[in-house]
Amino acid sequence: MNQRPIRIVVVAGSIRTGNFTSKALALVADEIARSDDTTVDVVCLSDVQLLMPGLAPSDEVRVLQERFAAATGVVLGTPEYHGSYSSEMKLLIENLGFPSVLSGKPIGLLGVAAGQIGAIKALEHLRSVCSHIGAIVLPRPVSIASVQQLFDDNGNCLDKSTEKHVRSLATTLLDYIRGSICPRVVLEDAIRRGEIQWTKQETKETHDGPNDVQFVHPDVTGSYCFGRI
Ligand SMILES: Cc1cc2nc3c(=O)[nH]c(=O)nc-3n(C[C@H](O)[C@H](O)[C@H](O)COP(=O)(O)O)c2cc1C
Repeated sequence: MNQRPIRIVVVAGSIRTGNFTSKALALVADEIARSDDTTVDVVCLSDVQLLMPGLAPSDEVRVLQERFAAATGVVLGTPEYHGSYSSEMKLLIENLGFPSVLSGKPIGLLGVAAGQIGAIKALEHLRSVCSHIGAIVLPRPVSIASVQQLFDDNGNCLDKSTEKHVRSLATTLLDYIRGSICPRVVLEDAIRRGEIQWTKQETKETHDGPNDVQFVHPDVTGSYCFGRI
């Protein structure tokens, strides 16, 4: 059995040398890696030749897609550029397939900005696109304002409360995964192995629609709908 079943991909939408997005994301990655049931895969976009949208994926892009497809959850970090998120981040999303390999993945969002109002617009735009492609965008995104004043050249955060806030993104993501994704994976796996016997029940027309099939088990509160079993 995999001792570290939770795999998180972290990626910065800035390829600028010394960029602050990666410095902030490093704190999130560090916080995630502290748990003994996680692994972190940091994707560096300057190492990947992303293609213009619509072109057939190269082998390199397919490998990139597989890294994201294998993730239990994802952290996207972006700078605020002209009141939105970065074009590098958009190009990454275009390269992750149509339909996207991010579909169904829980995603935590981080934004950094030089300005005093932070990366609010970047985060709202990124949330909208991620929701559109079917990702589960988690609440409580982290926006860092005046980012140049908050990190030194070595990536140390100079403000304790900012660091705590940035690290909280890891907790938001891991709490969601442990509370909602892991139980489902374990449950579905047990059913596939035949370790749990469920009773198939055809329901009458419900709010979920007509001819719904549900499976019920006396030890489980309520019923459970399986789309993928
Ligand atoms: C093209 C461009 C547009 C920018 N637009 C904004 C903006 O709209 N609001 C803001 O607060 N900062 C803006 N900035 C400043 C960046 O948010 C800031 O430099 C940030 O550190 C960039 O992220 P990075 O260090 O991860 O590359 C802009 C910077 C660039 C290069």
